Amino acid sequence: MSVHTPAKKKITVQTLIDMKRRGEKISMLTAYDFTTARILDEAGIDSILVGDSAANVMAGYETTVPMTVDEMIVYAASVVRGTEHALVICDMPFGSYTNPTQGIDNAVRIMQKTGCDALKLEGGAEIADTVRKIVEMGIPVMGHLGLTPQSIHKFGTYAVRAKEEAEAEKLLRDAHLLSEAGCFGIVLEKIPAALAARVTAEIPTPTIGIGAGAGCDGQVLVIHDMLGINKGFSPRFLRRYADLHTVMTGAVEQYVRDVKECDFPNEKEQY
Ligand code: KIV
Repeated sequence: MSVHTPAKKKITVQTLIDMKRRGEKISMLTAYDFTTARILDEAGIDSILVGDSAANVMAGYETTVPMTVDEMIVYAASVVRGTEHALVICDMPFGSYTNPTQGIDNAVRIMQKTGCDALKLEGGAEIADTVRKIVEMGIPVMGHLGLTPQSIHKFGTYAVRAKEEAEAEKLLRDAHLLSEAGCFGIVLEKIPAALAARVTAEIPTPTIGIGAGAGCDGQVLVIHDMLGINKGFSPRFLRRYADLHTVMTGAVEQYVRDVKECDFPNEKEQY
């Protein structure tokens, strides 16, 4: 008798919308390469975000501003090759959607070159028209409100956003606008938990929080942060699930010692 394991179904944007309707939480992590994507996919993650946080954790830039469409294409295509099940979302980088025409051109290019399932754009009312037009082209779009790192030079800080009433009201309006423009999801980054819960309750679109509390429909973290590969980054919202910085440093130190002391390779490790 053969044991039949049913194939895991591919997750689509509709799956996430249905999960919100059912009250089932959505899990999302970032990845930027084939091997990590395969691990996340096999571990059962619902969605993988190829974030432009690659600028910080992969390329070593101070901000996400220098990231280009070509760089995002390399990261996203690698992740898509490692993923069977999870929904893969790619960030459109800074300056790649300054108007609807440019946004559509870059969105089509990223979709064609990477094979990803959806795109994410940062901003509210100012990009709602672009979002609507990209969605009309048949491309699923996720929004991103609150702390939007591509605007770091406008904010001047990575501190919590929308603590004041005026900014909170604008964020609420932006969330409704993005939802009406056709976004299938909205990331809420570093805003008060009560505001994120209110947004989540008011719109049918799934919200994915990072530093936005438990009231969101799902959660996302940067993989390097949650695995503890980044040593110095400890914001309050971050839960570390491993200390890979210590594990990796220890392994490399051991390897250096073994090579220097002629312990590696041994007889069994050679031909
Ligand atoms: O670029 C990124 O990784 C992101 C997440 C932090 C949401 O936008």
